[in-house]
Amino acid sequence: MCGIVGYISKNKKASPILLDAIKKLEYRGYDSVGIATIDDEKIELKKDSGKINEVDKKVNLSDMRGCIGIAHVRWATHGHPNKVNSHPHTDHDNRIAIVHNGIIENHEELKKELIMEGHIFESETDSEIIAHLIEKFISKGFNFQDAMIETVKLIDGSYAIGAILVDCPNKLIAIRNESPLVVGLGNDYNFIASDIPSFLKHTKKVIFPDDNELVIVSSENVTIKDLNGNILDKKIETMAWNEEMAQKEGYDHFMLKEINEESVVVADTLSGRKEIEKIVVDLGSINKICFVACGTSYHGALTGKYLFESFLNISTDVSYSSEFKYLKDVLNENVLTIFVSQSGETADTLSAIKMAKNRSKTLAIVNVLGSSITREADHVIYTKAGPEIAVAATKTYLSQLVSIYLLAIYLSKNRNNKFYENMTSQIEKVPDYINELMLNEDKIKEIANKYKSTTLFFFLGRGFIYPTALEGALKLKEVAYIPAEGYPSGELKHGPLALIDENVAVMVLAPSENSESISTSSYKDTINNMEEVKSRGAQVIAITSYKNGENIDVNDIIQVNNQIDELLSPLVYIVPLQLLSYYISIYKGLDPDKPKNLAKCVTVK
Ligand code: M6R
Repeated sequence: MCGIVGYISKNKKASPILLDAIKKLEYRGYDSVGIATIDDEKIELKKDSGKINEVDKKVNLSDMRGCIGIAHVRWATHGHPNKVNSHPHTDHDNRIAIVHNGIIENHEELKKELIMEGHIFESETDSEIIAHLIEKFISKGFNFQDAMIETVKLIDGSYAIGAILVDCPNKLIAIRNESPLVVGLGNDYNFIASDIPSFLKHTKKVIFPDDNELVIVSSENVTIKDLNGNILDKKIETMAWNEEMAQKEGYDHFMLKEINEESVVVADTLSGRKEIEKIVVDLGSINKICFVACGTSYHGALTGKYLFESFLNISTDVSYSSEFKYLKDVLNENVLTIFVSQSGETADTLSAIKMAKNRSKTLAIVNVLGSSITREADHVIYTKAGPEIAVAATKTYLSQLVSIYLLAIYLSKNRNNKFYENMTSQIEKVPDYINELMLNEDKIKEIANKYKSTTLFFFLGRGFIYPTALEGALKLKEVAYIPAEGYPSGELKHGPLALIDENVAVMVLAPSENSESISTSSYKDTINNMEEVKSRGAQVIAITSYKNGENIDVNDIIQVNNQIDELLSPLVYIVPLQLLSYYISIYKGLDPDKPKNLAKCVTVK
């Protein structure tokens, strides 16, 4: 989605700092960019459609005067990605400039009224009305702060807005409702932004404003007020993240860097086990779990269903966040709803938690400190993945899975279940298994090169590894633009088998049945399903931990350590699938960090 930044300082030029900050938000929106500053009682505005570097080359975004400014990267919702629709937007007299992330749902009716009052609009966006509404209230005699308050009283929808006003050149004002907004505190400068990495280089001190709190920022002060003008006492948090974590550090892409961080991320997330054990104490009475999530986080949640149902005998539903509101309401005080989200800002997941709170116990599994979803939940497990910049989730998926496993482990401990004993020591070995797999990178590159032109992929898995098949297919679609379907291995013959021929690649995930905790016949059954696709001509790639893969006759094989417990296989098998998607994307000449049409954080419904 869109990203906004605002910066004000005593004497430093704002535009180079804004340009650098907005580059860190490019993963959020990429079809247009713009900056507005105030200098010499005038707004200077530069904007256009295109990637930041292209627009910068054209208009030199860092060469703008003034120590106060706002900036924006756009992911178009209303209006084509072109120069006019790019943010910042201004009023007719160029006295006010605004940036906006979100959707103003009642913009059409407000626009009609404003046009009747004589306002002239330039763009097709929903956002431009904000500049005109502020203009309207300023012309009625309201000061900047009150004009903002009157404006947000009229608009419905989601927003994070940053605004500057020529008549008030020492202040920028921001406000949010259901769209992310953080404040970064410096010495004689301050920031507002959609996301922390944009200003991490300058400060780790942050404030998280809540919905409809007015953020008034000068170079020396940040004041946060409610809509009645009362000053609020907000907590200042210090981020554990550092700037290097949000840099490529020698890797060609963030995605590759983030995959390479996975063994450390798993170890770090495991180190949070005490916090999870404490949370579990409060969950003694639960007799049902509902997971709610989107995309990759949904696949993490689905893995949770297999764990909780098999080992804790707790009936577990998994719902897409956008579907949650349509499902039969099964919530009560003995139900635990678990919201899984990397960003903690996904609009559908945020609405779902608002629906579920007060009607069930709520737990959020989130990567970003202080994000909106964490503020709605009774309990929060922070995954310890550090900032994830590539649009495709990789290391955060692993950290979500580890958190879900730890939750299952400690719930089972409380219920005197054997699963606790078996898994506690086994899970510690996962970072080593991942490191071992990374040594297979050349093999994975070779397979990526061989299959880069394949036009259809299936990913098959059974039981615990089935959600991994879904996630493998999602990664390939996202970064390599190859149609890919994840299926339970046994389900293919109920329809999709009709698509199988020699042009189709089938990735078979076949963990061996070596679990101390479960006994399934998943391996044998999966191999039988594999034979079904092979005999129809498919190119088969297998990932297996079965005794050096000796009994499998396939086109290509990726061997996983045969010591790994089948139950833990989701924590390991995903790594080669992520690498495969990454390298296919590279060999196709694509940019895996910024897939087309996608945004890292989906803050609109
Ligand atoms: O921030 P969230 O985990 O709530 O995001 C959910 C999805 O938008 C996200 O997982 C998306 O599917 C990723 N791009 C997948 O790589």
